[in-house]
This record gives sequence, structure tokens and C-alpha cells, in this order.
Amino acid sequence: MPGYAVIGGMWGDEGKGKVVDFLAQDFQYVVRYSGGNNAGHTVINDKGKFALHLVPAGIFWSSVTCVIGNGVVVDPSVLMEELTTLQEASVDTSRLVVSERAHLIMPYHVALDQLEERARGSGAIGTTGKGVGPAYVDKVARVGIRVGDLLEATDEETFLPRLEQVLKHKNAIITKVYGGEPFLVRDIYRKCLEWEECLRPYIQPTEVVLQDAIARGENVLIEGAQGALLDVDHGTYPYVTSSSPSIGGAYTGLGIPPQSIVGSLGVFKAYCTRVGGGPMVTELNDATGEKIRELAWEYGATTGRPRRVGWFDAVAARYSANLNGFTSAVLTRLDVLDGFPSVKVCVGYKADGKIFDRFPASISLMSRCEPVYEEFEGWDQPTASARQMAKLPENAVKYVRRLEELIGVSIDIISTGPRREETVVNRPFVRR
Ligand code: GDP
Ligand code: IMO
Ligand code: MG
Repeated sequence: MPGYAVIGGMWGDEGKGKVVDFLAQDFQYVVRYSGGNNAGHTVINDKGKFALHLVPAGIFWSSVTCVIGNGVVVDPSVLMEELTTLQEASVDTSRLVVSERAHLIMPYHVALDQLEERARGSGAIGTTGKGVGPAYVDKVARVGIRVGDLLEATDEETFLPRLEQVLKHKNAIITKVYGGEPFLVRDIYRKCLEWEECLRPYIQPTEVVLQDAIARGENVLIEGAQGALLDVDHGTYPYVTSSSPSIGGAYTGLGIPPQSIVGSLGVFKAYCTRVGGGPMVTELNDATGEKIRELAWEYGATTGRPRRVGWFDAVAARYSANLNGFTSAVLTRLDVLDGFPSVKVCVGYKADGKIFDRFPASISLMSRCEPVYEEFEGWDQPTASARQMAKLPENAVKYVRRLEELIGVSIDIISTGPRREETVVNRPFVRR
């Protein structure tokens, strides 16, 4: 019967990994549907600290089957490395399945991602450089190579001509447009054979696996990557990722019907962060921003880049909630704001002499917007590590309640630290 989705409410890094690791105990399946190893999902539990890039954060529960769905783009070298890291920490990875329809990130995608970014100069998107965008471009251009194709890699006569054709085109772009180094077909072919050998046991028709699980009434937890404001359709285009992190992406990225997702949880930080380029109305380029970044160690889990930091943007959050139909919200990193004399929330944008609360499509308009703030008294008592609402200081509760009103979704879970157990559940997310 039911699927529940955990979706990044903003620009990614909201704490989806922590939340999924916590929730996964009630699920038989935990599944990824979009993005690739541009994601970095941090999990801290009894097995250690992990930054997961491709493997769903349910892998630590022995009762959970993890699925990398067709909508994900997979760099097999990264996946193999991640599986080794997990195995070295005594995590059983045999319960992972990877869609035969998922597209591969090839070495030329990684090269193109970096060459394209360099060529953009001051207009760079600030991609993670992992080849994710170019792999999705090839998927849509119908020249991608899929995980399932690896199973036929040993059949040289079928596989090699396709690879040669694609590579001829890619090499022409790499060398003639960007002056880069060409790839040799035999090097890539050798890698494909290696990948086939390692990944063969994991490759399955995952849409069937999930449809069957849903028919049996098993619980499926859907793990979003990135966030709604990085969505290629709904985000701050062109400063977005190349996939659909919003709820819509889950249906196509998994091959499950709409009625199977009965709840969606929007994950929001108690303030905002963003990595890479693009407008961020509440960005703090001052000592407060620096203080939050250092206190919270806001540096990327994938690239190590410093994250841009700002106050909570309720205009963006409500836009995201409406887009995704969140049935619950989770607020993470509330503890980071402990001890601040006051905290602010952006409740409107001001530009060209007008105040409004609609999230604009125009990047130039958004870049001109100034935040309109509501200010709240801070709290001296810690929220850090609290596990019950009753333990939260009064002003922190007031802050949470006002955010609920502004987002228009009830905050059912509050995260008060990076560890699995540092979690307050106001209302169970999974309804029985
Ligand atoms: P994701 O990409 O959405 O999974 O988020 P990341 O893992 O990239 O970034 C979230 C960061 O916040 C990680 O370093 C987490 O360990 C940390 N984290 C998650 N929840 C909390 C919390 O409630 N409090 C604190 N202090 N850290 C948290
Ligand atoms: P998780 O799942 C934060 C950002 C990049 C860049 C833009 C495009 O950990 O929340 P890409 O490499 O996807 O072409 O880069 O998207 N970005 C993320 N920012 N968290 C992520 O993932 C991100 N994945 C991509 O910084 O601005
Ligand atoms: Mg992350």
C-alpha cells in the first residue's frame, strides 16, 4: 500500500539523510528516484558517520531493501567505492537493488561537466562537477547508456559500436569546443566490463520490485535528493540541477502510480543554505552568516565547498510546500540557533517599490529582491539533543509555531542534532 516521500524543501542539504535514517526503521524499502552523486546525505548512527552519495540512507537497517530507481544517474565507480566503504563498516549491502533503466554517468560526462562550468566563467552554475547534468542531457537526447546495457557489455558486437558512436561525438565536443583531452574507447570499454562484473548482482527491474512491494502492502520510504528550489522546472532556473527533485520526479523516477504515495514530508532547515550560484534573498554576507556557517559547519558533504547561509525564507518555503503538497514538515538544525539573541524569518520580498510574497520565476527580479523580515526573540536554554517537545524552550516553540503558520504545513518532526536519536516526533509521520 503506502509510499511516503522525504523531499528537500529548499536548495538541498536540509538533513534528508539524517531524517531518512531515522524514519527507515518503519519501512521495508528505502528508495532514491533522482539526482546522482551530486547528493551528499550525512548519516550518524551506531555504525559511524557516513556521507552517502548514491546508496539510500535506509541501508543501515537490516530489514530494509534499498533501491536506486530508474530516475537516478549512476556513476558505477562512485557506487562501487561507496559499497566498499559501507562493507568496511560492517554494513550489509546485499539488500541494494539498482534499476536496469537508470542512466550511467560516464567519464566523459564528468569531463564535460567541468569543461562546461569553466567555459561559463562568471556565469558558472557552481555544479558539483560530478557529470550529473551532462548525463541527464544524454538521457533526454536519447544517446545515454543505461545500467542494464552493462549486462550486454561482453557482447562486443552490440555494445562497442554504440559506445564508439557516442564517444566520437563527445570527443569532438571535448577537443574542438573546449580544447580538452579525448577519451579512448578501449579505456571506457574496459571500465564498463569491470562495472558489469561488480554491479551485475544488484541490477533489477526496480519498478516491478516496487510495484510488487506496494501490492503486498509494504512500506516504501522515498528519499529525495537535492531540493525543490533546485528543480529543473520549478527551481531558480538556470541555477538548478538537471533533474526533478520535487514530488513529481518520484513517480517517473521510480515507475510507481500516483495513488501509492500517501504522504510527503518536506525537510527544512531552521535557516537557509545554498551551495553554488543563483539568487538567495535572505543570504547573510556578514558576521551572523559567518557565525552560523562555522557553528553548524556548513560545508558541502560532496564537494567541501562553504555553503551560503541566510535566515529562513518563508516565501520560498511556502512555494515549495504548495508545489509538493507536503502533508508534514520536518525542521532540522534548530539547535544551531540556540543562544542567538534574536532570529529572523523572511515573510515577503521587496523589489521595484513593491512588497509581495510570490516566489518569482525571473532570476533578475529575484536578484533585486530584499527580504522583509519578522524578528523573534531568541532562546538561552538549549534545544540541542532534545527528544520531546516539552523540553524545548518557550521561544523556540514560538518560532516553530510561526514557521508552521507561514509554511502552511504542520511541523511533525524536529531534529535537534545530527545523530539519529536527536529527534522530536510531534506527530508520527507514518499514519497507521
Ligand atoms: P542532506 O543532503 O539533506 O542529507 O543534508 P547534508 O547531510 O548534506 O547536510 C545536513 C548536515 O546537517 C549534515 O552535516 C548533518 O549531519 C547535519 N544535521 C542534520 N540534522 C541536524 C540537526 O538537527 N542538528 C545539527 N546540528 N546538525 C544536523
Ligand atoms: P543533497 O541531496 C545542495 C547544487 C549545486 C549547484 C546545482 C547544480 O545533498 O541535498 P549539479 O552538480 O547538480 O549539476 O549542480 O545544484 N546541488 C546541490 N546543492 N545539495 C545537493 O544535494 C545538491 N546537488 C546539487 O551546488 O548549485
Ligand atoms: Mg547534502
